Amino acid sequence: MKILAIETSCDETGASIVSKNPHENYITILSNVVASSMAFHSKTGGVIPNVAAREQLKYIVPAIENAIENSKLRIEDLDAIAVTLGPGLIGSLLIGVETAKTLSYLWNKPLIPVNHLLGHIYANWLTGKDRKPRVIDFPALALLVSGGHTDLILINSHNNLRWLGGTRDDAAGEAFDKIGRLLNLPYPAGPIMETVAKKGNEKAFNFPRPMIGSKDFDFSFSGLKAAVMRKVIITKNMDEKTTADIAACVQKSIVQVLLRKTIKAAKKYNVRSILLSGGVAANQKLRNELSAESSKLNIEFFVPAKSLCTDNAAMIGAYAAFHPKKVSWNKITANPELYF
Ligand code: KG4
Ligand code: ZN
Repeated sequence: MKILAIETSCDETGASIVSKNPHENYITILSNVVASSMAFHSKTGGVIPNVAAREQLKYIVPAIENAIENSKLRIEDLDAIAVTLGPGLIGSLLIGVETAKTLSYLWNKPLIPVNHLLGHIYANWLTGKDRKPRVIDFPALALLVSGGHTDLILINSHNNLRWLGGTRDDAAGEAFDKIGRLLNLPYPAGPIMETVAKKGNEKAFNFPRPMIGSKDFDFSFSGLKAAVMRKVIITKNMDEKTTADIAACVQKSIVQVLLRKTIKAAKKYNVRSILLSGGVAANQKLRNELSAESSKLNIEFFVPAKSLCTDNAAMIGAYAAFHPKKVSWNKITANPELYF
């Protein structure tokens, strides 16, 4: 099955062609194009929805054209079109959804709507030059950590998913971004915080690890943000060293909370695989520590290539290939509030 996938939930315009053979348990990427309007949002310290939508409109057609050209396939070779239905920014989502509907009608191809959050998790089934196929055994536990979400999901099979818990306020990526802003770092601050943290001392300050001991699988990061804000206000000289120390301590706190809750859920549900996903999964400390803890428990650890952790269309195609539930183009509407 060959799928053209389209992703436009926020500030990335993604188009990709993926392929899955019926007997295979993994997805092959034939092309994956990502155009980003991040440069605009760095200037304003966050995504401005109407700017993101306007840029989506500019990139969508060239991105799809490039994805088809790079895949070396013809339009006739495609079996379906997959598109992100939500959650996301309504203006951005509409560009992808309406384009996919138009192409579905024009080319007479079935349409597969995909939840962006499940797409992130299914990035773990993508293979490429740098990643050989590995079988993901169920039950699996997915930790989804992105700019908008922090969730733990138990996957008993491709068609049996159970949400275990999630953030009650800020998402992990949002915490990195907002704390980075307090430290005068540009948006999105997550990757920059990681770089800055390398020069810092992670024992310099004792920031809170919110809800680390709670009995549920929920998270909360707003208290950490407030603690950093207090620290920044009382610090007279926010020099490079202090900034690096704060970044290192914040990263440690976020990683420890994510780790503790994930391992607790993995033990409780006796999972065979742990799947890390979402933009924050690009964080090397989180990748290393979750990998180490998983192997202590003899649980297989999976994480996508860093470029596939942040928003892209290949992950949307991956979910669609495992769930080819086709819907008529005139029954599909973008849904910014879509959840699990
Ligand atoms: O999944 P994603 O591309 O978009 C959403 O669906 O939200 O995630 C973007 C988030 C941003 O908050 C960004 O700061 C964070 O992922 N992020 C990181 C790293 N790379 C991206 N956070 C920490 N360390 C990183 N290396
Ligand atoms: Zn995302």
